[in-house]
Amino acid sequence: MECDTDGFFSKAEWIAKTIRRYSAVHVVTHIDADGLTAGAIACRTLERAGIAHTIEYVKQLDEPSLERMAGEGSKLLWFTDLGSGLSRKMGELGLDFVITDHHIPEQSREEVGAQGQKHLNPHHYGIDGANSVSGSGVTYFVSRAMDDANRDLAGIAVVGACGDLQDTRDCRLTGVNRDILTDGKAAGVLEWQVDLRYFGRQTRPVYKLLQYSSDPIIPGITGREGEAVKFLQELGISLKEGERWRSWIELGHDEKRAVVSAIAKLLLSKGFGARSTGRLLGEVYTLRREEVGSELRDAKEFATLLNSTARYGNPDVGLKICLGERGELFESAKMLLSGHRKNLVEGLQVVVDEGIVEMEHIQYFHSLEYIRDTIVGIVTGMMLNSDSVRKDIPLVGLAHSEDGKTKVSARATRDLVDRGIDLAAALKAAAAQVDGVGGGHNIAAGATIPRESEQAFLSILDGQIAAQISARSGGV
Ligand code: C5P
Ligand code: C5P
Ligand code: ZN
Repeated sequence: MECDTDGFFSKAEWIAKTIRRYSAVHVVTHIDADGLTAGAIACRTLERAGIAHTIEYVKQLDEPSLERMAGEGSKLLWFTDLGSGLSRKMGELGLDFVITDHHIPEQSREEVGAQGQKHLNPHHYGIDGANSVSGSGVTYFVSRAMDDANRDLAGIAVVGACGDLQDTRDCRLTGVNRDILTDGKAAGVLEWQVDLRYFGRQTRPVYKLLQYSSDPIIPGITGREGEAVKFLQELGISLKEGERWRSWIELGHDEKRAVVSAIAKLLLSKGFGARSTGRLLGEVYTLRREEVGSELRDAKEFATLLNSTARYGNPDVGLKICLGERGELFESAKMLLSGHRKNLVEGLQVVVDEGIVEMEHIQYFHSLEYIRDTIVGIVTGMMLNSDSVRKDIPLVGLAHSEDGKTKVSARATRDLVDRGIDLAAALKAAAAQVDGVGGGHNIAAGATIPRESEQAFLSILDGQIAAQISARSGGV
């Protein structure tokens, strides 16, 4: 489809105008970094416009929750970072709603237009919702259209995009995400530079940055604390400043250059091509108003902090941080962050212990109750990024949810997407066949299915992926 950014922006204008006519709005958002930043942008926008508002968070929007909302009064419902998969049902229920989402929509632009829906989704305009704009970004464009002064919200919009890993494909944000960057810079809230892309530039000791490196992996150093320390010492980098560990941002220009070129040399000497070394550097996004060295200064670190709140039942903490609250609340978010980090490390170990089962076109692991259903997706993505997993078929992670169902998370590589894999379509179709629901993006998707249907679901999914590959390669 032709990319129609003008159409996208004019729909944002129209939605903004309609929201202004309301006196009360209920925001419904997703429990991850992109969802929280989207929700925060919506709330701040409404607050500034003098519109009364409330917010609720959902793990996954489903028909029963829509039915409940339909019975709950006359406020305008504003769905952020979700909703595009259920817009038809919202219409049927007679809900009065706005959607600012980037997931693959069930209805076409024409259908949505014909119903007069206040529904903004990049896919309707040929804009790629997996890479070019996130839920917080789509929400930001409506916010900006409501009031130019809302351009200072561009900073948290970029945190949402980074939370959804939209900077990973090209090692920088692309598409309409760049409009947000430009706004953020002009508003004095954002700046960016090309730097080492590894996670934790602001807060981690440098050796930990290398120890936990994953994209690209550093052969012999990733996962090995002692080797990471030795590598830096051999380059003459002092690891500490007095008693304190130095972080990446504290290194001088020459020190940084020495580390980057030593990693590149190591990668090349071990036969990793230019493609790997090319991913070492990329754009990193800094929130200028946050304290240097804090968890909120770097967009990727900010996003992880938000995930640590929302995915553990504390979305309010993350939302308030997006809205500027600090103090004790920030301290409790940091506690949640250390719990989240621990859970991710343990989660990766669970996958190693349980093992990955290979089918013909997919591979999967089952974490039972050992990984929370809210973070199994993150663990699946990290596993697929590690060097111990096949890259030529998607990875699927299963976890038992507290509600007696099974949560499924699937992740693909960029190569697989280029070869025609669309996980959102495959999971949606396979889940529907076992009375479950699924969707998401081509590169990352999820589903919830009945527990007794796990094996049936996996076989159907295997067949779906086979069909996608064969359709692309011209087979039957
Ligand atoms: O629900 P939502 O859209 O916020 O989630 C997007 C998901 O897609 C995230 O879990 C993110 O990690 C994943 N993703 C990915 N690789 C990309 C883009 C997104 O794994 N290149
Ligand atoms: O939960 P997970 O991180 O694996 O989700 C990956 C993507 O799939 C997210 O964008 C999420 O919103 C979407 N998803 C969905 N329907 C589900 C589960 C996840 O659209 N039932
Ligand atoms: Zn999102």
